Amino acid sequence: MKQESRAIESNQEGVHPDVAAAVARYWHSEFQKPVAEHSLAAFREIDALLTNNSKPLILDSCCGVGESTAHLAARYPDALVVGVDKSAHRLGKHVAHRRPEQQGEYALVRADLNDFWRLAVTAQWPVQRHFLLYPNPWPKKKHLGRRWHGAPVFPALVQLGGELEMRSNWPIYLREFALALACLQIPAKVKELAQDIEPMTPFERKYQASGQPLWQLSATLQTPSLLSQSRRAALQEVASDGGNVLELPA
Ligand SMILES: C[S@@+](CC[C@H](N)C(=O)[O-])C[C@H]1O[C@@H](n2cnc3c(N)ncnc32)[C@H](O)[C@@H]1O
Repeated sequence: MKQESRAIESNQEGVHPDVAAAVARYWHSEFQKPVAEHSLAAFREIDALLTNNSKPLILDSCCGVGESTAHLAARYPDALVVGVDKSAHRLGKHVAHRRPEQQGEYALVRADLNDFWRLAVTAQWPVQRHFLLYPNPWPKKKHLGRRWHGAPVFPALVQLGGELEMRSNWPIYLREFALALACLQIPAKVKELAQDIEPMTPFERKYQASGQPLWQLSATLQTPSLLSQSRRAALQEVASDGGNVLELPA
């Protein structure tokens, strides 16, 4: 059965004007929200696995039903792949989305990533790759603070490091994310995905079946460093005018 899905509707026509300001605000302040018990338990479970394991770590954040987690474990058989989602309901549907022939080592845990990422940074987990596939877009303009790059946890997400791959059906989300990374002097590429890719997740399959264009951001998260206020303002202006933040002269 073909699942239809409507394209994102937003009262934003382009990149949000406050992205650079949000990055600077949270880069300079400590995110002090207490960590939830269940997030700590999930972190400890994976931390114990890592103690007895020399495999590279791959995170699949916002993994939903974990279909992508199983897929990534098969693609990277030498790695430990960890899928994280806050929804017990979605994680509970995992078995139905796993192909029995798929190999590889992976674990799924329920945690709030606002906690989990901070704990992982403090523990200096060696993240080799980080997948963030179809995060909730929060397309209303007033909801910038709920998007990962507009949230207080953004510094932790960046400090985790690794090769980041994000996907979205809302290119503005990824362009904003690229701007946020550029404010920390990290280059990122955003490109449209081919229409005939093999879908890795249920949301990807649903959007593809509805003929929606899909987008991918890739970046190497290393040595973040906040740009000066004037450079950030210049980047924000270029991005808000629809320009490419990577083409700004140094
Ligand atoms: C749009 S769904 C995408 C799921 C999956 N990646 C896919 O493509 O099918 C976004 C997922 O992010 C999860 N999520 C949102 N906020 C989260 C948070 N703070 N911590 C953990 N998971 C979160 C939701 O539970 C949901 O499963």
